Amino acid sequence: MNIDGRQYRALWVEGKAISFIDQRKLPYTFEIFTTRSVDDVAFAIKEMVVRGAPAIGAAAAYGMALGEKEPEKSAALLRSTRPTAHDLFHAVEYMTKAIDHAENAFDAASTYVESIIDGCKKIGENGDILIKDEMTILTHCNAGALATVDYGTALAPLRVAHKKQKNIFVFADETRPRLQGLLTAWELHQEGIPYALIADNAAGYFMEKNEIDLVIVGADRIAKNGDFANKIGTYEKAVCAKENGIPFYVAAPASTFDVTLKDGKQIIIEERKRQEVTQINGKDIMPDWVTVKNPAFDLTPNKYVTGYITESGIHKKIFIREKKIVYR
Ligand code: MRU
Repeated sequence: MNIDGRQYRALWVEGKAISFIDQRKLPYTFEIFTTRSVDDVAFAIKEMVVRGAPAIGAAAAYGMALGEKEPEKSAALLRSTRPTAHDLFHAVEYMTKAIDHAENAFDAASTYVESIIDGCKKIGENGDILIKDEMTILTHCNAGALATVDYGTALAPLRVAHKKQKNIFVFADETRPRLQGLLTAWELHQEGIPYALIADNAAGYFMEKNEIDLVIVGADRIAKNGDFANKIGTYEKAVCAKENGIPFYVAAPASTFDVTLKDGKQIIIEERKRQEVTQINGKDIMPDWVTVKNPAFDLTPNKYVTGYITESGIHKKIFIREKKIVYR
């Protein structure tokens, strides 16, 4: 991604040091979090220094490389950080096998990460066909380069369309409680893509006024039948899109598909701490006595999905046969 004229990825490796753009500090300050320990990588995932399903997977791959001397302990630690994003578990499994086969763990992690980046690049190229000149597209949370190491999932087609000089406009939901929409606004601002950040509860207003042509979101885990978990608030956008006849697409690489789950009901939804709701930037915005619930994700049934934008193309339906994903 282009940041003030320089190319960056959300995370990278130099020797045995892993660096992350610290997403807790964006967009106010640009800070780098660097570590050489699996414990710090686990901290970075849990506290959301790094976030977004494919980027969490990439971090976990390098975490396994850093903790390769005790692979089972490292795997258990990394798996305990965040339960919903399938990419994390996929990456830990990939690295466990690589370490078992005595591959160089850092090389294996880099191969994993390059394949994720390549997948996202293809998602951009494949999804571009959906985006016509003068379209307004709604997206939720941040499914950009920050969330995927580079390119993005939901934002990747928008980047390609903009590069091809299609005139597009993006609505970015602010995404309470952690305001990942602000990260999307920051990415769009860096790329010069016209956008407006909107309050989460404003999306229906714009849909009903016919001001949104297309919705594209990312995913954290997609079950065999196409039901998927994504950032809290995705479900209501999907229902509202269907009600208003607006196409609703999910963009995700193969690492986000969980071939072991029959449907979305089995997806574990992460519950995060109350301070994410009661504070903004560490400052209380609510009194202490307020009772809070803070589910980080919700579940959207497949009936609301027009199609899945993947590295292999755009698919209307998803089937899993003999543990392999088959798209149609
Ligand atoms: O809690 P987060 O910020 O890690 O959640 C991120 C999302 O929900 C994204 O939409 C999802 O991971 C897809 S990112 C390409």
